[in-house]
Amino acid sequence: MDPNRLVGKNILITGAARGMGAANAEAFAAQGANVCLGDLDEDEAGKLATKINASAGGRAIAVKVDVTKREDNKSAVAATVDAFGSINVGVFNAGMNKPRFFMDIDEENWDMIMNVNTKAMWLGMQETARQMIAQGPMEGQPYKLINVGSIASRKPLVDVTVYCTSKYGCLALTHCGAIGLAEHGITVNGYAPGVVVTPLWEQLDKDLVEIGFKDREGQAYDDIVRDALQIKRVSYPKDIIGTASFLASGDSDYMTGQMIHIDGGWCIQ
Ligand SMILES: NC(=O)c1ccc[n+]([C@@H]2O[C@H](COP(=O)([O-])OP(=O)(O)OC[C@H]3O[C@@H](n4cnc5c(N)ncnc54)[C@H](O)[C@@H]3O)[C@@H](O)[C@H]2O)c1
Repeated sequence: MDPNRLVGKNILITGAARGMGAANAEAFAAQGANVCLGDLDEDEAGKLATKINASAGGRAIAVKVDVTKREDNKSAVAATVDAFGSINVGVFNAGMNKPRFFMDIDEENWDMIMNVNTKAMWLGMQETARQMIAQGPMEGQPYKLINVGSIASRKPLVDVTVYCTSKYGCLALTHCGAIGLAEHGITVNGYAPGVVVTPLWEQLDKDLVEIGFKDREGQAYDDIVRDALQIKRVSYPKDIIGTASFLASGDSDYMTGQMIHIDGGWCIQ
């Protein structure tokens, strides 16, 4: 890892207490970025900030954020600016899943998933962009918004219909944001994982058995690797950090409106 690749980047990342958000935050800081870790789980985010601050690289702070609330997004942006002087990258990673077959979806399931995965992304993008616009253009470099999509941003997966709807929404926010924010020197890109072993997927694996979609825990992993992936293994957060770092770095300055799949080839199946 180039320890200077992200020097000068002040990055807000939501859902950073664990899983891919935590791995990305550590990788960003190891490459010189200052990171604000926003999460509902303030304790775990705080522990990670302490770990990052004890390591070489950029600095970290942790803030308690419920991404579904506009005021929390606003205060996370303000905390980033207070700590580091400005914000130049926002990573909208917080997300959740709760599978239901189509006819079993109810309003509670719909609202919960759509609020965390889609509405919160819009709020985070808007509040971060508002600050970036107020800061004024950066010479020769765009500000960057990075949205976390999914294989479910492009594939209809019937056992997780609402999750798909929410993640297709993330793709739409990436496309519309890229157009709507270009005049302010802000690019909007994203990445779309497939199966990443994190607490989210471990819970999903159990829930798929509970709704009767799979017979045993671990079967979903086995079936997807066999039937859908070209690279015959599931992935881990370390498989994601390279692409996330690229999108946060100057190497992606001429890109906008793109959602890069990091899914072992699932999306071409
Ligand atoms: N794990 C996968 O296979 C996979 C695949 C494709 C996309 N994704 C997406 O990647 C992102 C990260 O997923 P992960 O697997 O690392 O999940 P995870 O469950 O391991 O971590 C998610 C983090 O988001 C936080 N969070 C949840 N709701 C929040 C809220 N309202 N406000 C603030 N923080 C909140 C949680 O506390 C947690 O720390 C999500 O957007 C997810 O949909 C995951």
